[in-house]
Amino acid sequence: MPTQTDARRPDNRGSTGATAPSTGAARARITQPSLRRDRWWVAPTITVAVLTGFVVYGTWAAFRNGDYYAHPYLSPFYSPCLTDSCPTDALGSGLLGDVPWISPAILILAFPLGFRLTCYYYRKAYYRSFWWAPPACAVPDARRRYSGETRFPLLLQNLHRYFLYFGALFVGLLTYEAVQAFSFDGGFGIGVGTGFLAVNVVLLGLYTFSCHSFRHLCGGGLRTLSAHPVRRRLWRGVSALNRRHLVWAWSSLLWIMATDFYIWLVASGHVHDYHWVA
Ligand code: FES
Repeated sequence: MPTQTDARRPDNRGSTGATAPSTGAARARITQPSLRRDRWWVAPTITVAVLTGFVVYGTWAAFRNGDYYAHPYLSPFYSPCLTDSCPTDALGSGLLGDVPWISPAILILAFPLGFRLTCYYYRKAYYRSFWWAPPACAVPDARRRYSGETRFPLLLQNLHRYFLYFGALFVGLLTYEAVQAFSFDGGFGIGVGTGFLAVNVVLLGLYTFSCHSFRHLCGGGLRTLSAHPVRRRLWRGVSALNRRHLVWAWSSLLWIMATDFYIWLVASGHVHDYHWVA
């Protein structure tokens, strides 16, 4: 950064090449692309790697249209399972009738995907990593004509508050399927898959209910929050969760992949599910 002495040099140019603002100028002119010397590119690189991995895995999982059920476990990618080909005890099974040409996962994909894609945290992550707008604090945009979320298609990001309702609905549906995972042929039991599904729904719940839009739903739109003690308490609880929204976002994303993968391993006969039945 230019020192005071640098700024007083006759040519008004600091050791970094920055020109001190003259009277009325809004910002210093900096000749380098960025003054940052730390490894700011590490975080965007990891984001690209993990999100690309998820897209590749999710595409395979959604299109494989098989080995998504191993009694009593239903893959979260296929819940709710709405076609005739779904297990009969799955919630909503057969609701859409016989649709053999399309995977049941594709039929419901738009809702969880829309919720994740428009999430405020993920926007920051992929704007930085993929758009480079900007890639990091104090690193310039890769695009000159970036207009933010003021125009189509990024304007659609504002739908997030509506996707929240679907997100909450999916937490309810997955809770039902996680409870079903304790039922082995009608008897109570616990297996490795039960653990995967139970942790999955907890992480997904933490991610959904730490949402910025949910926080606004609890405490926003009021003139005096303190005059509404119930909403204030709710808002404080959601705010506490919200501080770790990033953690819930990544952990729930990775765990849902792990859960689907485990169920695929069991359903396809690659591994045996260890469980205890009362
Ligand atoms: S802000 Fe991330 S889910 Fe709403």
